[in-house]
Amino acid sequence: MNEAMIEIIQPDDWHIHLRQEEILNTVSQYSSRINNRCIVMPNLDIPITTGELANQYKNEIKKTFQNNSFIPLIPCYLTDSLNLIDFEESLKKEIFIGGKLYPANVTTNSEYGVSNIEKIYPVLEILDKLNKNLLVHGEKNSQNINIFDREKYFVDDELIKIRKKFSNLNIILEHVSSKYGADFISENNNMAGTITPQHMLITKKDVFVDDDVNPHNFCMPVAKEEKDLIALRKYACSGNRKFFLGTDSAPHHIKDKVPNLSSKPGIFSSPCSIELYAEIFDQENALNKLESFASINGPIFYKLPVNKNKIKIMKKKWILNEYTTNNKVKIKNFYGGQELNWKVL
Ligand code: DOR
Ligand code: ZN
Repeated sequence: MNEAMIEIIQPDDWHIHLRQEEILNTVSQYSSRINNRCIVMPNLDIPITTGELANQYKNEIKKTFQNNSFIPLIPCYLTDSLNLIDFEESLKKEIFIGGKLYPANVTTNSEYGVSNIEKIYPVLEILDKLNKNLLVHGEKNSQNINIFDREKYFVDDELIKIRKKFSNLNIILEHVSSKYGADFISENNNMAGTITPQHMLITKKDVFVDDDVNPHNFCMPVAKEEKDLIALRKYACSGNRKFFLGTDSAPHHIKDKVPNLSSKPGIFSSPCSIELYAEIFDQENALNKLESFASINGPIFYKLPVNKNKIKIMKKKWILNEYTTNNKVKIKNFYGGQELNWKVL
């Protein structure tokens, strides 16, 4: 392989937040420029809980770029009281790609999320019957659980329970952030995980600095220990089919990023995410595995075709702008103001 340039099948981003209105208009180009498909998260201010809302949102997204074949895919935001008939119909018509489980109050706009897993068993039965996927924000939120242990508690207390009852259900543990979660994926059937760039680049030391929170490195699940970062790098760079690209790029207005835990969680990486992944794979001497992670493993798990086009990424130094701005929008870019070593052509 030419050291200075790699060519890979066009990627997809299996977990991203594009928001609405002016933020959507500002950020969607970064995803549509690189990816063929994105799973766009349904945690809007009014969550996407029906087929009609999903269609409206897809149209809103598509209007933000012209002459582009970019495909937004949307999972249904699961609640305790979902309309099951609409859910089933919308899955059959492929309006929804699956169901997204947000345990209540774990992250941005998750207050309508699921209060008790057993309440969504009828929903899981439908997913299981139709052979569709359950996408999971895998954190258990409770006053006695430390922020760093939420993923482990979710696996032990909730995921194992779901898997016992629905052993054939395909589950994606999204933005897996711990060695514990990644090992669970690796060791169990019908499981996959998306891995973000930030969970392979930063640890809790980059988030909690003295008594402050660095809000630009703060996301949920929060970055963890060095051993977790190392494990995630190992799985991502191994070619293991169970792990694939999901940036969890999550833009917030700079005014919502404050130096404490009331900051909105979310790291905005889409202006440089494929470049950061290339850098990580380069550091791990695994550039030959980037294509599996970014472009092949995801469509195989989701039973969708692998893309036909290719993209080129060049080893070339450039400096990313500190902010993404547009009219009233100002968003801090992850790695903004820093030098990067790879650039998409
Ligand atoms: O950090 C996060 N931000 N994690 C999530 O799960 C949601 C996301 C957001 O929507 O801001
Ligand atoms: Zn997310």
